[in-house]
Amino acid sequence: MSQTKYSTILRQCRLLGTDGRSTVDIAIDNNKIAAISPKIPELGEWEIDIQGKLVCPPFVESHIHLDSALTAGEPRWNHSGTLFEGIQIWGERKQSLTLEDVKTRAIETLKQQASQGILFVRTHADVSEPTLTALQGLLSVREAVKDWMTLQVVAFPQDGIYGSPENDKLLETALEMGADAVGGIPHYELTREDGVKSVQRIFELAEKYNRLIDIHCDEIDDEQSRFLEVVAACAIRSGAGSRVTASHTTAFGSYNNAYAFKLMGILQKSRLNFIANPLINITLQGRADTYPKRRGMTRVKELWQQGLNVSLGHDCVRDPWYSLGTGNMLDVAHMAVHVCQMTGMEEIAACFQMVTENGAQTLFLGDENYGIAAGKPANLIVLDADSCYDAIRRRAAVRYVISRGKLLAETVPAKTSFL
Ligand code: FE2
Repeated sequence: MSQTKYSTILRQCRLLGTDGRSTVDIAIDNNKIAAISPKIPELGEWEIDIQGKLVCPPFVESHIHLDSALTAGEPRWNHSGTLFEGIQIWGERKQSLTLEDVKTRAIETLKQQASQGILFVRTHADVSEPTLTALQGLLSVREAVKDWMTLQVVAFPQDGIYGSPENDKLLETALEMGADAVGGIPHYELTREDGVKSVQRIFELAEKYNRLIDIHCDEIDDEQSRFLEVVAACAIRSGAGSRVTASHTTAFGSYNNAYAFKLMGILQKSRLNFIANPLINITLQGRADTYPKRRGMTRVKELWQQGLNVSLGHDCVRDPWYSLGTGNMLDVAHMAVHVCQMTGMEEIAACFQMVTENGAQTLFLGDENYGIAAGKPANLIVLDADSCYDAIRRRAAVRYVISRGKLLAETVPAKTSFL
């Protein structure tokens, strides 16, 4: 007679990359994946029949601003729809930030994300305010959610490191307080020279405090915005490439092809990570264009074809830059498939990888902490889909979210009867 051996067994799971028919059982014990096999003979205290649905590692949200999430319309709506009006509105809203305000909105957003299968999040925290309220709030949220969500906090100088005299010191203080990564916004500094200097300063601080780097880089349609080459050069010289991320890089979509071709060679040497935010990039960029109107996206397909690590982020959920969004990474991947013209089957699978494994690589989680294999932490999701193509096409519901071996969220998909 079979013995109860595991706390949980998921029966008949379809893993990514397997053929259409074969399924496996996954056993969980002590918060870890204990065994994976076509048929596990022992019993679990709790068992569930997955019925051949897709089981995969959790989604990774590699770029979001939790400090501004859920503030859309406060104190006013963004009428121009531009990045720069968004920065102005946030500048007004952040005057009334309190710790409680930041924590409440961030936790509400994280719960929405977790229920949709996200268990790893990198958030930016605006550190341009002397009180560092956004940072303090998000650092305490990082602690409060650690039993079910891994949160990384980037110290992000929204108004530029050299935009006002105290910002450099505030950025360093944020690292002393425990931010996981150093951020920046070189294209928003007062001059190109300040932008270059800000990138050099970011690398200096990252080395001093042993932190990751994630820079808002060239988030503009200006084809002369060329801080990506500066970031790449610093990454090559410091050897820190895989710990460094260039977020947005939307100007790369506007560079002339001769320059883009030269740059691609430098990027390959740099081993940088890239994050594109298709929902927001396509919305904020191209606003100064008439027609033809640019897409405002970095060269996702070409970076992927060159073997560089590209992940996708949501960036904003109901904030001054984007009044829509629910935090669903399948919405993000779905938009990427369209706007990056990655509609081939391999390309759709690559977009799914960009909201899972590639995000994990960007967050520098380490191979031992992410993925579905015996011995790894039991973080996994069950999608109401047969494949990653099916999941993106239908933006399938996440049936079960298992975090640290425990069932964290369950969703019953909507059911329609045709009468
Ligand atoms: Fe951002």
